[in-house]
Amino acid sequence: MTTTSVAQIAVLAGDGVGPEIMTAALTVLKTVSQDQFQYQLQAVPFGGIAIDQCGEPLPATTLATCQASDAVLLAAVGGPKWDQAPQRPEAGLLALRQALNLFANIRPTRITEANQHYSPLKLAAPVDFVIFRELTSGIYFGQPRTFSSEMAVDTMRYQREEIARIARLAFQFATTRSQHVTLVDKANVLASSRLWRQVVAAIAAEFPAVTYDTKYVDATAMQLIAHPEQFDVILTANLFGDILSDEAAEITGSLGTIPSISQGNQGPALYEPIHGSAPDIAGQSRANPIAMIRSVALMLAHSFKRTDLANKITTAIDAVMAAGIATPDLGGSATTTAVTAAIINHIQESREVYATDHV
Ligand code: NAD
Ligand code: IPM
Ligand code: MN
Repeated sequence: MTTTSVAQIAVLAGDGVGPEIMTAALTVLKTVSQDQFQYQLQAVPFGGIAIDQCGEPLPATTLATCQASDAVLLAAVGGPKWDQAPQRPEAGLLALRQALNLFANIRPTRITEANQHYSPLKLAAPVDFVIFRELTSGIYFGQPRTFSSEMAVDTMRYQREEIARIARLAFQFATTRSQHVTLVDKANVLASSRLWRQVVAAIAAEFPAVTYDTKYVDATAMQLIAHPEQFDVILTANLFGDILSDEAAEITGSLGTIPSISQGNQGPALYEPIHGSAPDIAGQSRANPIAMIRSVALMLAHSFKRTDLANKITTAIDAVMAAGIATPDLGGSATTTAVTAAIINHIQESREVYATDHV
């Protein structure tokens, strides 16, 4: 899209805490965008609510809206209500990722010094790493995939190009940071991991400024707790990335703080928290809105090249957390709406200070 056009954003609030955190994030988007960023929202059913309304988790009209948009904002899907449904809400998410060819899932973990106390770990240094998780292949999609009461089969299958395209993105991204990539795999056991090693070594050679090492996934799970500050860019397969990113999130103090970008080589990218629909706290204004609000910041920076607006959001979140205004998952007692209001206040106050400085 061009800078003069109106950004088209598909909004998929989904299930559980989804609508609560989406409302919070859209309020922040509205605040930060005043007079500076024009956008149009298209809210469409997705996940369990789409099963209820349309009989399927990813209705054709929802997919068409996403395909026609410049970016997709998604909260979360799923819940016990649909766990026994013939098609689960999660199947809609997997289908959407495939339909938009969102092969790279980027999940950043960043802990500022002022917010280290939220971590359950004794951190020796600030933490700032990013997981590049392969998102449209591997054991999530490989064939054969069968189920009977006697035997079930899942297949972890990777083709060279599926590995190469996400490896390229990860190495490119590393050049903008601390220039280090860690490939995480299980090459001591899995053939697919041995192919990852071969392909990633070839891509690494194209980026001489970036250092590169490999680690086994089990040891990485341990190292993330022992020395999370050592990581810069972690590159890994679909299932390993799913598991490690929930672990990584908890290092910040809560699963409710980490956003993500899912992107392909072209077309709209999708922005969503890494957590799920948290059905255990839905409807109580207890959900941490930060992961969803950070997803809006990622969207502004990545899809719309508005790092200025994204930085306003990130600065406000860091300040509100540092001030101790937090939902129960972070040990606080603030509601979803109170945390959101504090973030909005911070953005508005910064704007007033800026305006006063420039009279
Ligand atoms: P979950 O991430 O929803 O919740 C795990 C725990 O973390 C729960 O105790 C929950 O209350 C807490 N939590 C999660 N997000 C939080 C937030 N923003 N604020 C405060 N606490 C938060 O994982 P689950 O319970 O294993 O799964 C619930 C449903 O969500 C399942 O149907 C699952 O398939 C689905 N799910 C969806 C997505 C997605 O839409 N991208 C991701 C993961 C899980
Ligand atoms: C995530 C979720 C999804 C995944 C599920 C809901 C399909 O856990 O986005 O991390 O496994 O990718
Ligand atoms: Mn997950």
